[in-house]
Amino acid sequence: MVQPIQKILVTGGAGYIGSTTCVALLEAGFSIVVVDNFSNSSRTPLDRVLEIAPGSLVTYEVDVRDTQGLGEVFAVESVDAVVHFAGLKAVGESVANPLNYYDVNVGGAVALLQVMQEHDVRNLVFSSSATVYGDPEVSPIVESAPLVGTNPYGRTKLIIENMLRDLAAADPSWSIACLRYFNPVGAHPSGRIGEDPLGVPNNLMPFIMQVAVGRRKDLVVFGGDYPTPDGSCIRDYIHVMDLALGHLAAIRALGDISGCEEINLGTGTGSSVFEVHEAAQRAVGETIPMRVGGRRPGDAASCFADTSRAMRLLDWRATRTLDDMCADAWRWQSQNPTGYQ
Ligand code: NAD
Ligand code: WQD
Repeated sequence: MVQPIQKILVTGGAGYIGSTTCVALLEAGFSIVVVDNFSNSSRTPLDRVLEIAPGSLVTYEVDVRDTQGLGEVFAVESVDAVVHFAGLKAVGESVANPLNYYDVNVGGAVALLQVMQEHDVRNLVFSSSATVYGDPEVSPIVESAPLVGTNPYGRTKLIIENMLRDLAAADPSWSIACLRYFNPVGAHPSGRIGEDPLGVPNNLMPFIMQVAVGRRKDLVVFGGDYPTPDGSCIRDYIHVMDLALGHLAAIRALGDISGCEEINLGTGTGSSVFEVHEAAQRAVGETIPMRVGGRRPGDAASCFADTSRAMRLLDWRATRTLDDMCADAWRWQSQNPTGYQ
């Protein structure tokens, strides 16, 4: 008989999406074992996770590339499944320092999968990204669309995805949900946990929120001459709470997955940069300074998800609106103007 999943190891659980997902998993009654090396986070989000959702959560400061350290965690904690968030995620940084990205992302995944195999744990939810679609020919994007890595970060995700497919083909007792996130934004509605980028934010929503809170002068819209209705790029922004609930749905669906399933997590609706800026102003209740600048190299004009697979396989859909995303992002930013510091 297949054992029900009770204890889940969450790598990168102190990060933005990981901490929000820990709340969803704790509220659903799971026990959690977090493994994080805190290279892009601290223990504070985990303390706050437990404030929001008291429950069973233990933390190990271990690097996912450290097979011995991971093995010791697996030996002590009998986990039933792993959600693998840990990794590096900044596109520009990956171009500047590709070896570090291959080492952490690909090396970390290899090490984790080896240790899982040794300990007979074959249930995995993996954080992939819509970046694997590169510059998509059409949106909405279905999971069978062509895959292409357009930068080192994207190529690490593609390599890991291919590795997971090879592993599942070699041993179908693996159950793997490979979740391709679109653009995660927003924060837990409590305002206690959220996105805390180091330095200048690369992503649109944290940048807008830092302008709104007075940390940056103005938002520069990267290009107003794209072939879209208002000239700015279109993306599928998804509330991080919806994303967290998508992971919960994936954990629950693992028992029905044999092999590796790729699943888009998005809303299915695209919003332009100007629309996000307007929604952010509604949330903040003030004008947010903005100007239109040149295009950012590598940006696709339009990118949004076909979500039918997630609905079919996970019985999940995103329900939160762009206004919800901005309201929660603003609550987090205004209550924590300098993030967790
Ligand atoms: P994050 O940086 O906030 O969280 C990542 C966590 O992993 C951090 O706590 C960090 O300290 C930890 N970590 C990094 N390297 C580690 C290592 N070698 N060993 C142990 N822990 C390590 O990032 P996030 O936004 O929460 O993203 C989580 C995952 O989702 C990543 O794999 C990312 O590629 C993927 N993803 C993110 C986005 C996004 O826009 N945020 C979109 C698509 C996919
Ligand atoms: C969104 C839109 C910008 C900042 C990235 C990664 C992707 C995934 C999600 C991890 C674009 C515009 C942005 C600014 C702007 N991450 N913009 N001014 O590029 O869609 O995706 O994050 O997997 O891999 O590439 O997200 O938030 O950077 O940009 O006009 O200051 O906002 O041009 O159209 P992106 P983003």
